[in-house]
Amino acid sequence: MNVLVTGGAGYIGSHTCLELLESGYGVVVIDNLCNSNARSLDRVQMLTGKKLRFYKGDVRDEALLRKIFAENEIGSVIQFAGLKAVGESVAKPWEYYDNNLNSTLVLTKVMKEVGMKNIIFSSSATVYTATNEMPLREDSITGHCTNPYGWTKYMTEQILSGIANADPEWSVCLLRYFNPIGAHESGMIGEDPRGIPNNLMPYITQVAIGRREKLSVYGNDYDTHDGTGVRDYIHVGDLAKGHVAAVKYTAEHKGVEEFNLGTGTGYSVLDMVHTFRQVNQVELPYQIAERRPGDIATCYADPSKSAKLLGWEAEKTLADMCRDSWNWQSKNPQGYGE
Ligand code: NAD
Ligand code: UFG
Repeated sequence: MNVLVTGGAGYIGSHTCLELLESGYGVVVIDNLCNSNARSLDRVQMLTGKKLRFYKGDVRDEALLRKIFAENEIGSVIQFAGLKAVGESVAKPWEYYDNNLNSTLVLTKVMKEVGMKNIIFSSSATVYTATNEMPLREDSITGHCTNPYGWTKYMTEQILSGIANADPEWSVCLLRYFNPIGAHESGMIGEDPRGIPNNLMPYITQVAIGRREKLSVYGNDYDTHDGTGVRDYIHVGDLAKGHVAAVKYTAEHKGVEEFNLGTGTGYSVLDMVHTFRQVNQVELPYQIAERRPGDIATCYADPSKSAKLLGWEAEKTLADMCRDSWNWQSKNPQGYGE
């Protein structure tokens, strides 16, 4: 069976393409490369020894989507394509609503036309309201998002749920990711953010490689074991396996289902710093800075529904995540390059 992977050249997409190919699926990618480099796909093909099909273009391009569905027999779609920087979404709300909502609207319009109704969507733990108790369960309260990016995830969940509720032929998996980090163990594919990284792990690896002077730890006065923010970090390879499990699930079940993809364990910023130093034996200078606006103290998943229904559980440890992130960064100091 062929899986159409939108945004497949990106960080999570490229790892998922690799996992799909290794699990015996055919892979067709559409990506406009607005935040990625097609070299990731060359490397996926090198690592697996298998070919995938790549269309460079925008998911909002209806004509291109029709051509892709006409030229390939697609059995499932994974919708990764979207813009993902929280701060940028506050500065450019229109661009975020346009890209993130219209991509799914156009995609599902064409899927409806061709009668292919299995879709897996990249949602986020950001859809959960900040006042929930931990761990977050799929039935915890959602909404009250604090930025346009979060709203696009929330609204897309609503759009896809509405579509599935109206037409029982649809199968929709809403995958709520916690904090993906790490890289393929080969160090050939990994996260390659443009500009100054917003997220913790790419910032840590860029400090370790000498591209940035020191890490700012945003706040040490939270109500956590050491005062720094706690998150549920998950290895991108485990996350990719979660998508393969979701492809199988959508092939066998109709309707809409939400799933947390996390480990169920939270680590603080200082836990990350200490583990990274220890595992990789590198210097990692840091300073304590002001809290970052919009951050919460603690966020971690209850992943038991995914274990029960998808048969999926994260396997990699924090040490694996730190080692693989560093392996990727040290082998590719400038990411995929220009
Ligand atoms: P990424 O930026 O590396 O990948 C997204 C890909 O989509 C990029 O290759 C980009 O070029 C492509 N793209 C964007 N808009 C497009 C469009 N209109 N048409 C075609 N291609 C388009 O990001 P990622 O970290 O791999 O994230 C993948 C998905 O997972 C995103 O939807 C993101 O919001 C979601 N997500 C990511 C995280 C995270 O921390 N990385 C957490 C939760 C959810
Ligand atoms: N942090 C620092 N210094 C940095 C970067 C981050 O101390 O330079 C801290 C943050 O304050 C937070 C933790 O590290 O406590 C993790 O921060 P990230 O930016 O890596 O991740 P977030 O949990 O803030 O956000 C991520 C994704 C969002 C998504 C959210 C919820 O980036 O897209 O998880 O799923 F919405």
